[in-house]
Amino acid sequence: MNYSEIIRMFSFNRFEEYKETAEWLLNQTAIRPVVAIICGSGLGGLADRLEESVTFKYEDIPRFPTSTVAGHAGKLVFGKLVGHDCVCMQGRFHLYEGYNIHMVSYPVRVFSQLGVKTLIVTNAAGGLNDRYSVGDIMIIKDHINMPGFAGQNPLCGPNDERFGVRFPCMSDAYDRELRVKLRSTAEAMGVTHFLQEGVYCMVAGPSFETIAECKLLQTLGADAVGMSTVPEVLMAHHCGLRVLGVSLITNKVITDYDSEEKANHEEVLRTTQKQTKLLQDLVCGFLSM
Ligand code: HPA
Repeated sequence: MNYSEIIRMFSFNRFEEYKETAEWLLNQTAIRPVVAIICGSGLGGLADRLEESVTFKYEDIPRFPTSTVAGHAGKLVFGKLVGHDCVCMQGRFHLYEGYNIHMVSYPVRVFSQLGVKTLIVTNAAGGLNDRYSVGDIMIIKDHINMPGFAGQNPLCGPNDERFGVRFPCMSDAYDRELRVKLRSTAEAMGVTHFLQEGVYCMVAGPSFETIAECKLLQTLGADAVGMSTVPEVLMAHHCGLRVLGVSLITNKVITDYDSEEKANHEEVLRTTQKQTKLLQDLVCGFLSM
């Protein structure tokens, strides 16, 4: 990392910076996406379904951060998904990689400047709700921003009204109509036995939660826990994008002191491999409805 990159890690992004990235992308492709999709761990296969696709490595995009996690490809793919012009992030940015929260959510304002109206976010999450099974798909109806309680919110800092208001409402962050539409899609596909709807709690990671932390999150009303999504959703709702959030329950969190099981990234990737096709089919079905 050079000096200017280090400075950037600790500063806020300005309207002109997002604009520079967006204009660069618009100059490289004729595709004008209306839907953006952020793919979670091991869920990037959706980007491979885009037709007439144009791909950019993150490192080639001006001002874009670059991804560092195994299972995260680090590519922005433009193309058509069931007839819709889309842009798809294959690999996202996380707090635990060392990015500041403004960089984690940087792409969302770029999407907004590209003309995107709807954001679909997917993630891998640990199941906190006892009724959930590994492999379930949870429609996110609300979130708990745990890092936010410690001052980590991408909307902190000077507010530029060209993006949105200073104090945005978040009680309607996850669009009700889109949630209903996803449920109808699952019904039409006959896969409602995998479907849940619940509250996603973001933690910073990279360590998985302790037993006491899992019990705390359950008490707080969270159904699933993960290390992403919330910064992007805060940014998206602030600038007026409609949001659909979907978690794949890749593991059950451990809440028993006698358990020999241990949370691990390999189990997360194994489950995503098994269920990634279903999740991709659901998103495609959703878009075609
Ligand atoms: N905890 C936090 N993040 C996760 C988990 C988990 O159990 N599973 C997948 N992402």
